[in-house]
Amino acid sequence: MKNIVLDVQDLSVHYRINKKVIRAVEDVSFKVEEGDFVGIVGESGSGKSTLAHTIIRLLPTNAMVVSGRIELLGYDVLSLGEEDMRKIRWKEFSMVFQKSLNALSPVHKVGNQLADAMKAHNPNLTEEEIIDRLKQLLRMVNLPERVLKAYPHQLSGGMMQRIMIALALLNHPKFIIFDEATTALDVVTQGQIIEEIKSLVKSLSLTGLVISHDLGVVSELCDEIVVMYAGRLVEHGTTEQILQQPLHPYTQGLVRSLPDFAQEKKKLSGIPGNLPDLSQPVHQCVFAPRCPIATEECFKTVPSTEEIDGRRVACLKVGARI
Ligand SMILES: Nc1ncnc2c1ncn2[C@@H]1O[C@H](COP(=O)(O)OP(=O)(O)OP(=O)(O)O)[C@@H](O)[C@H]1O
Ligand SMILES: [Mg+2]
Repeated sequence: MKNIVLDVQDLSVHYRINKKVIRAVEDVSFKVEEGDFVGIVGESGSGKSTLAHTIIRLLPTNAMVVSGRIELLGYDVLSLGEEDMRKIRWKEFSMVFQKSLNALSPVHKVGNQLADAMKAHNPNLTEEEIIDRLKQLLRMVNLPERVLKAYPHQLSGGMMQRIMIALALLNHPKFIIFDEATTALDVVTQGQIIEEIKSLVKSLSLTGLVISHDLGVVSELCDEIVVMYAGRLVEHGTTEQILQQPLHPYTQGLVRSLPDFAQEKKKLSGIPGNLPDLSQPVHQCVFAPRCPIATEECFKTVPSTEEIDGRRVACLKVGARI
């Protein structure tokens, strides 16, 4: 039995906006074992980034963690004070952000920004030690040393994304979250960076999460996959289980939309409808309005997450079918 590095229990996170409450994450539980990567997949607005920001405690002020517990690397994340959190964030765990391409200042050289980020956590390092570490990091993400002297706008999207990965690895974290780390890139660069991430996480013995709306990206990088829909976990299994025998009708739709699994690429929009309005309380299965196998019962009951066939699924019909 491996150590549990991340344990998310019954997590619900809401946003308050214009007197409405947006239920972005509802009752989500899952664990990540040491050395594993778990993918979080789901369409836009399903709560993936909110989940990630809650884990590293970087939520905007209108967000409320309404229930749950998160244990990360032995820390009770939700009850730590901000001062203690600042000591461990970026050092023990870090994240490559979804919109990270805009994260660096356009008016300072990349090298100076990386050096500043390093000094902030390691004030005792000498200039030489910092430069050595930066050069080592650049080699790890396949970038030439000259990028240290460049301004962000002088770098390609792929180079910038590699810089963001280097930045996340700066202080030797044990746990890392990649949130749509390759989404904005062309297919070839995306493929290269996925390969680089694969070898990095192996050589550095990292544990973490890979977040993407693209099941293909997540399945390349992850041992297990959590499928989210409208803030809820609908299925959680090994990558093989999810790809070979998806149980939840939503996961089945995602798998069908993978080019490799269908002769002709079918889009999930083939399932009529959109995500439900997250500001309305839900007393039914969130996926029922789009579900091809929903019955009357599904519109009356919120399915709980059950262990079925070696994985976790929240679907009344799947439970009945097996
Ligand atoms: N700061 C905020 N204030 C209010 N609502 C928010 C805020 N951030 C996100 N939301 C809402 O919370 C829900 C979940 O958003 P989130 O960004 O977590 O989804 P996501 O799965 O990461 O989507 P994407 O794939 O587009 O990145 C959405 O309805 C979104 O509009
Ligand atoms: Mg997101």
